[in-house]
Amino acid sequence: MRAFIVDRYKKKGALRFGEMPEPALRDDDVLVEVHAAGLNLLDSKVRDGEFKLILPYRPPFILGHDVAGTVVRVGSKVRQCKPGDEVYARPRDGRIGTFAEFIAVNEADVALKPRNISMEEAASIPLVGLTAWQVLVEQAGLRKGQKVLIHAGSGGVGTFAIQLAKHLGATVATTASAANAAMVKELGADVVIDYRSRKFEEELSGYDVVLNSLDATTLEKSLKALRPGGKLISISGPPDPAFARGQGLNVVLRLVLRLMSAGIRRKAKRAGVDYSFLFMRADGEQLGRITKLIEDGTIRPVVDRAFPFEQLNEALAYIDTGRAKGKVVVTLK
Ligand SMILES: NC(=O)c1ccc[n+]([C@@H]2O[C@H](COP(=O)([O-])OP(=O)(O)OC[C@H]3O[C@@H](n4cnc5c(N)ncnc54)[C@H](OP(=O)(O)O)[C@@H]3O)[C@@H](O)[C@H]2O)c1
Repeated sequence: MRAFIVDRYKKKGALRFGEMPEPALRDDDVLVEVHAAGLNLLDSKVRDGEFKLILPYRPPFILGHDVAGTVVRVGSKVRQCKPGDEVYARPRDGRIGTFAEFIAVNEADVALKPRNISMEEAASIPLVGLTAWQVLVEQAGLRKGQKVLIHAGSGGVGTFAIQLAKHLGATVATTASAANAAMVKELGADVVIDYRSRKFEEELSGYDVVLNSLDATTLEKSLKALRPGGKLISISGPPDPAFARGQGLNVVLRLVLRLMSAGIRRKAKRAGVDYSFLFMRADGEQLGRITKLIEDGTIRPVVDRAFPFEQLNEALAYIDTGRAKGKVVVTLK
């Protein structure tokens, strides 16, 4: 089958478009014929070798974390899915590879694709949708009447998180450039702060939750927007000791991660704020709940650009600019 392959870790290195064997199907896997694959900055970071220690993929391997497609075969222990089902998924770590014509995915990571959206739109959802869900619902326990600041509202995570937070009944502030203000307002943001001309940390205070996906400076400034007892949840680092433990990392790596987050944990403690890092995980059951929110019109996908499969390297270069408005996908069928 045709696939985009990482032959060796290299910063901004082009993926090789080549032939790979069709994936072997395990008993609890479904084989998905890929119609569209979503791109994420995680793909760029894995390609660049930034995740080598935490996610040790051995080249050559197929990249890609988001898929929408049709089930063509199922393993002997599969109970929920059947051939012909239209599904989408963020395959679990260790089993990625959606930039290909086929991928075998554990049934537990798969959900039925929302009926009211296209394959391209569906492929844009799983990783960012699950991230927003795990930050806002699981980790923050965001409730009606609370206030949340979502950084980079015009990005992949931001466009989904704004809609989910509004659905949960929160007041939503977001940082975005002036050019994207109308888009994030339309998604439901109540307060939009142009990060190029204004200082969010001087305008916002008493917030219950901040979702940070930006740099260390923004992370630290976000403490000022939070009330004592508020939650600062970062998806762009630095990883905290709980994450290191959960990943089962060795003692040395655990110490390194502990040191990396020591500064922000100390400052958060001083402000009475709870700091945590979150690395999203595959979860077909949660994705099924997201399917319902999309089908009832609560959440809609925001796809910036769809590239033909053959132009995957160009699509990756586009997300690497950091200027995407919503999501970028490649189309196979
Ligand atoms: N830990 C996890 O599980 C997890 C999961 C998903 C993502 N992430 C990480 O989260 C980060 C964001 O991911 P993403 O996919 O949402 O990114 P993205 O879609 O590439 O974000 C691009 C958007 O960010 C906006 N932006 C850039 N700088 C900004 C700033 N200083 N303030 C406000 N907005 C800004 C850009 O708007 P302008 O063009 O107007 O600047 C653009 O619309 C990445 O580092 C990614 O790796 C982590």
